[in-house]
Amino acid sequence: MGSVLAIVSQKGGVGKTTTAINIASALARRGRKTLLVDVDPQGAVRHGVGLSGTAHPAGLADVLAGTHELQDVVLATPLPWLRVLLAGSVAEATEHETYQAQIADSPKLGELFQRARARGYIVVVDTPPGLGVIMRRVLAHSQHVIVPLQSEPLALQTTTQILRAIREATVTNPELVLDGILLTMVEEGNEVSQRVSAYVREQLPRELLFDEAIPRTMASIDAFAAGQPVVLRSPDDAAAKAYERIAELLDPKLA
Ligand SMILES: Nc1ncnc2c1ncn2[C@@H]1O[C@H](COP(=O)(O)OP(=O)(O)O)[C@@H](O)[C@H]1O
Ligand SMILES: [Mg+2]
Repeated sequence: MGSVLAIVSQKGGVGKTTTAINIASALARRGRKTLLVDVDPQGAVRHGVGLSGTAHPAGLADVLAGTHELQDVVLATPLPWLRVLLAGSVAEATEHETYQAQIADSPKLGELFQRARARGYIVVVDTPPGLGVIMRRVLAHSQHVIVPLQSEPLALQTTTQILRAIREATVTNPELVLDGILLTMVEEGNEVSQRVSAYVREQLPRELLFDEAIPRTMASIDAFAAGQPVVLRSPDDAAAKAYERIAELLDPKLA
């Protein structure tokens, strides 16, 4: 049986998508059968895994709408063990409401995760920012969760709320485990960023935080622009190595 790992954060732009793509790729590189699912209607995973072409590929939204079958929209990637389920046809903001309602009301999301797990997949889920219904439905069906926290002033301001949402989810889903809060975009040589990291480590209980932090690197920015996970494009980069170590740590836990 595989398991579902959700990447969630109340804030946008903190590295959720980058983390989802790179952890999924790193797990796949370790030989784990991995399915990366984009539940964010913004659909950014598509760009990060090099599927930005003009045609909008079908994905989760189309499965939820009942117009496509799961096996027809799960895409192969250059990594043999990595498959992706993109957000699909929810490009228009006006469609987001229907999509949200489908996630909230239909048992399909849970069934889809269950099917992938039964086939031995680790399902890594990229989510939209905020504490909305999509994030809550994902947590209801996940066994693991990681919260990226960008190393910037006021980083901790929204952390209590996301931790509360995770705690609330465990009431109905006792399987859910918070693997950790992951500091992201820590800038070497930037005093503010370093001070924030130190402050976060001081304030949060040690068991809540990964010892490993993700540095802000040029290679990460280049990889994103090139539509590739940094762990594949620049495996020697410090951020790539940090993601590899996180994947190594998670691997035995994601039974
Ligand atoms: N370690 C990193 N180093 C440099 N840039 C990064 C790093 N992680 C993320 N970014 C950049 O920060 C921006 C936001 O990251 P993203 O993963 O899209 O966040 P989110 O999904 O939380 O909105 C993107 O432009 C991404 O390329
Ligand atoms: Mg994102």
